[in-house]
Formats: sequence, structure tokens, C-alpha cells
Amino acid sequence: MRRTTIMKKQFARVMGYCAWTTQSPKPQKKYRENDEAPRSKYRTVDGRLYLNIAESQYPLPVYDEEEMERLALQHAVFKHFWHGLYSSPITELLHVGGAKVLDSGSGTGSWVIDMSIDFPRSEFVGIDISPMSPTTNLPHNVSFFDCNLLEGLPFAADSFDYVRQGLLFEAFTEQQWETHVVNELVRVTRVGGWVEFMEGYCSFVNPGRVTKRLTNAFSTFLKSKGISMRFEDNLTTYLENTCRLSNISYEEQRIPLGKRGGRFGELALKNLIWTWLALKKPLADTMCISSEHFDALIETFVREATENRTEWRTFRVYAQKTRRNVDSAIDIMTH
Ligand SMILES: C[S@@+](CC[C@H](N)C(=O)[O-])C[C@H]1O[C@@H](n2cnc3c(N)ncnc32)[C@H](O)[C@@H]1O
Repeated sequence: MRRTTIMKKQFARVMGYCAWTTQSPKPQKKYRENDEAPRSKYRTVDGRLYLNIAESQYPLPVYDEEEMERLALQHAVFKHFWHGLYSSPITELLHVGGAKVLDSGSGTGSWVIDMSIDFPRSEFVGIDISPMSPTTNLPHNVSFFDCNLLEGLPFAADSFDYVRQGLLFEAFTEQQWETHVVNELVRVTRVGGWVEFMEGYCSFVNPGRVTKRLTNAFSTFLKSKGISMRFEDNLTTYLENTCRLSNISYEEQRIPLGKRGGRFGELALKNLIWTWLALKKPLADTMCISSEHFDALIETFVREATENRTEWRTFRVYAQKTRRNVDSAIDIMTH
């Protein structure tokens, strides 16, 4: 079956869940049917698979059918509210063809596949630590690799015209972001190419009381793992500190949650419910509450989001790679 068909099926299934709220239990899913996950790399909590790699702090499930559905849904929500898949000025480059693009932490591969269809003359590569991307019937201009970004990317310096990463802020500690992640992504971008990050984490406009409580618990939990919720400010600093980026730009998109945001607003709310539930164990432990109490909080979160007209803050930061100062100086001296 073609990948796009699979994604459409997943999406249709997710749309079908629209009537679902926290009153009904979450659909119980395990990892992908007929797939045997290499267990040493994963650990199971409440029937869901999480990464089990010493240096990785990534708290969400991976390689898990339910998470793949959530990621497909989230991709559709971002695509809709952002009116497109990227913000960097790369359209012409991709249309002309011959451009190479990297999606770091590509998850289900939805972004890569969508882009490869929009720009058939350019080449798209996805890497992820977890093998969630399709392996067969890929478009001619797509490839995926299993790869832990923290161990370095298997690509030469200056390999890509455009490198992007979406929704990985909680995958890395502040230190990993600063000393490794940003540098590695900039390393594989060619001079003149663009690097872009898209994030949507627990930052809300008009949050209700319970929304604030959940967000605070998330923040405390992440802090205990060395991950900062001040990521938005930090990211710009990390980019500046590479001394290899110019034209650093920031864009924000506020996503209305629930009916007020139409069908996609409802899906955005559902995505957040699924995210909270995927984080239930650590967040309930952080708040010292039972699983049932946590479920009740999620119900209130849904009600509050509608009553308060809560919006979810998402953002993109992108920048252009420049030459090293030392190279520019050598050029001036030799010409
Ligand atoms: C929230 S998902 C986002 C996926 C995709 N970018 C999207 O927008 O749908 C985060 C992804 O990061 C991947 N990931 C986490 N840690 C990683 C690492 N150290 N190296 C590569 N990928 C990683 C996870 O497996 C997961 O697919």
C-alpha cells in the first residue's frame, strides 16, 4: 500500500475519533502489529513503548501505532494552521530542483512525503532514532535513515540546502541542544542554505487553572531531566552562538483549541489530550496524584480550553548559514 494511502487512512481514523473525548477510554494500541521492536532500545510502560537509551531524555512514546496516529494528526494540524510546511525562503530553490533537504527527527515521515510530492525535482531525506517512517513504496526522491542525532549525523559537512527539525524540543537537554544538536544541524547545511525549527510545546494563551497546573507539572518534570521550558528564548541564543547564522527570523502561530478553531481546532485539542495522556505516568508522579485523578484533570483541561478560548502557541525559527569569518578574511586577503 502506498505511504500516502496509509497516511490518509490514519488521518481518516483520527478524524473519526472526533467524537471521542476523555469520557471514553483511550484506544489501547501496542507497537506496530507484526513488527518486533528491538527491545533493548525500548522500554514498555503501560503497554506503550518509550526510548531506553541512556543519553536520550525523549519522554514521549515511539515506534507505537497510537503515537504514529497522533503524529499524523499533529502534522495535519500544523500544516493547516501554518498554511504550509516551512517558512524559510526556499520555494524557488526546491521548484528548480536538485536541492537536498534533511528532516531531522522525521517521525512518521509525513513532512518528508508531503514535501517530496510538492517538489518532485528535489531530494528529501528523513532521519529518526525510531523506525516509524515507511520502508516501501517511497517516492523516488525520498530516503529515510535510522539515526540518533546525539551520535552525529552520517552526512558530510555542507550536504544539504535546507535542514529542518520539527517538535523535538523535549528530546534534548539544554546542554545537548547547545553543544551538539544545533551545531550538528548547522554543520550539514551548506553555506547559503537554511536551517529551520518548528515547535509547539506547553505554552498557552488564556490557560485555565488546570491547564496551568498541567503545564507547571510538565515544566517541573522536564527540568528534572535537564530540559528547559524556556526553549524558545534559548533556541535563538544557541543559533546566534554558532556564529554561522544570519537572518535569524521568528514566526508565531496561535492555534485555537476546540470547536472555535473548526475541525482542525478540534484535532489540535485531541492532539494535546493524547500528548498529556502519553505523559500521564511522569506527570501524575510529579503531581503526586492517581491515574484516575489525572484523567479527571484532562477532562477539565478540555472544558477549560473551550470556556477560556485557549490558544496553543507554536513557533518557527529559521536562519541562513553564512561563511566562517576566517574564510571571508582569507578571501579578502587573497583577492
Ligand atoms: C514529537 S516527534 C516529531 C516527529 C516529526 N518531526 C513530526 O513533526 O511529526 C519527535 C521525534 O523525534 C525522534 N527523536 C527523539 N530523539 C531523537 C534522537 N536523539 N535522534 C533522532 N530522532 C530522535 C522521535 O523518535 C520522534 O519521532
